[in-house]
Amino acid sequence: MSTVTSTRPWWQEAVVYEVYPRSFADADGDGIGDLDGLRRRLPYLADLGVDAIWLTPFYPSPLADGGYDVADYRDVDPRLGSLAGFDELVAEAAERGLRVIVDLVPNHCSSEHPYFEAALAAAPGSPEREMFLFRDGRGPDGDEPPNNWQSVFHGPAWTRVTEPDGRPGQWYLHLFDAGQPDWNWRNPAVNSYFEDIIRFWLGRRAAGLRIDVAHGLFKDPQLADLSGLAAEDHAPSAYFHRAELHELYRLWRVILDSFEPDEFPGARTAVGEVWYDSPATLKPYLDATGLPQVFNFNLIMSRWDAAELRQAIEVMDTLAGGDRAPWVIGNHDVARPVTRYAGGQGGQPNGAAGLPRIGDPELPAGFRRARAAALLLLALPGSAYIYQGEELGLPEVVELPDEARQDPTFRRSGGTVPGRDGCRVPLPWTSGGHSFGFSPDPGDHPGTPPWLPQPSYWGQYSVARQLADPDSFFTLYRDALRLRRSHPALGYGEAADLSGASGPRMTWLDGPAGTLVFRRDPGFVFAANLGQGAVPLPPHRQVLLASGPVEDGKLPPDTAAWLAG
Ligand code: NOJ
Repeated sequence: MSTVTSTRPWWQEAVVYEVYPRSFADADGDGIGDLDGLRRRLPYLADLGVDAIWLTPFYPSPLADGGYDVADYRDVDPRLGSLAGFDELVAEAAERGLRVIVDLVPNHCSSEHPYFEAALAAAPGSPEREMFLFRDGRGPDGDEPPNNWQSVFHGPAWTRVTEPDGRPGQWYLHLFDAGQPDWNWRNPAVNSYFEDIIRFWLGRRAAGLRIDVAHGLFKDPQLADLSGLAAEDHAPSAYFHRAELHELYRLWRVILDSFEPDEFPGARTAVGEVWYDSPATLKPYLDATGLPQVFNFNLIMSRWDAAELRQAIEVMDTLAGGDRAPWVIGNHDVARPVTRYAGGQGGQPNGAAGLPRIGDPELPAGFRRARAAALLLLALPGSAYIYQGEELGLPEVVELPDEARQDPTFRRSGGTVPGRDGCRVPLPWTSGGHSFGFSPDPGDHPGTPPWLPQPSYWGQYSVARQLADPDSFFTLYRDALRLRRSHPALGYGEAADLSGASGPRMTWLDGPAGTLVFRRDPGFVFAANLGQGAVPLPPHRQVLLASGPVEDGKLPPDTAAWLAG
């Protein structure tokens, strides 16, 4: 078994690749991606040069929310594989130096989870019901929800149940879909249940946990009405960012730290998915005794604007380094960067309203910007996450037919919010053929179509086509990842270590209006031009890598360069 030699935990500078398993690669031909498909594509990820993989939920699930409705936390959905297959995946990934992070979903489970089914079968006030948040309704017949909370996916956050004797009964809380009942985190039995789940996956050599809705879990015990707040605000409220969370995360940290750091996969991490309205809201999650890491969504939320991006980066750099708060420009909840940046927008989870359509003349700017954003992402100090397909420059598929959409947001909003399916379309591996190589070639049979339809132009973004093209998105990502590994200033950065500073560092340099220019020691300068016209490159010895053509010492609009300086 390999050992870990660096003194610094791997996760402080890791580039982690997010896999949405049902859309990555399908090995058995049922049109749904699976763990075997992923295992067979590990050479691709090793060649790309990432350090770890984060798998979004692959557990048994009725798929009310793409698997974030978990029916069994300690198993693999048979459509995606088996526990033995998971172990094989982890072992083969380890042989390639790749770690595997799994998704922990502690705010809610599936309405088909056995504990919730037991709660439905039990009486009001029973220990079974106490695992969840059941309450009597308001109004003379109890037929109004217990409070006015709204689901993040639109509509009321409460659903009424029928009692075992057939009468209309209590209501249960679900901050997301009705198929996702919220756990009652004030019940110690819930905590013990999750501690066992955490130990289960870490014991199977998962390198860490991505914690879903890490700002949720605890609700105000009064469950009082809210005035004027919407869940999308992500401000501290009766159900988000409660102080009780931090004691829980201290306990989880102790569990993580109890695993042997000297053997692969090394010190275990947990990265919280925390959506926030301001840096002050995020700060308590960055306490040294809490979760090792919390996502920093500042780049996702920023528009393609130099001043806005600089502020987003500065705020995070002072609050916590990118080692504690990894950088990210996309994930399975927000519109793809190519499409988002075409319109200059920032991103928000759960929606894709107002996006430019494919064929929009703005899109080419989106491609240039997404390439430049990739170089920004990978030059920033600390750790970064890449969402599958970002390395291919995939656009958001905005033209999915309504009947194909699966995101509960689309349904619950009455079709007014398109939802997140457009960034979850199965990957194109080959430029033609059945499902562009996502599923195996069915030969003479018609084959099962992918679970979300791929657009006819998908092949132009395929892995096969991009591997051979020195100017492709994939080549840019691979070159950047190789340089990032070998350059002493990148990732965590050597200078940060020597200075004894509390985290990895960067220094802003003056540049023309509309540019982002910073230095990382030793000898690295980043420059991006977000303005309208070409600008001179800052003083440098050599151009190491550029996201577009750099000629005569000039940086064109929507282009970034890595320089030796
Ligand atoms: C965040 C996940 O990333 C998202 O996909 C999911 O819908 C919600 N949490 C609810 O679990």
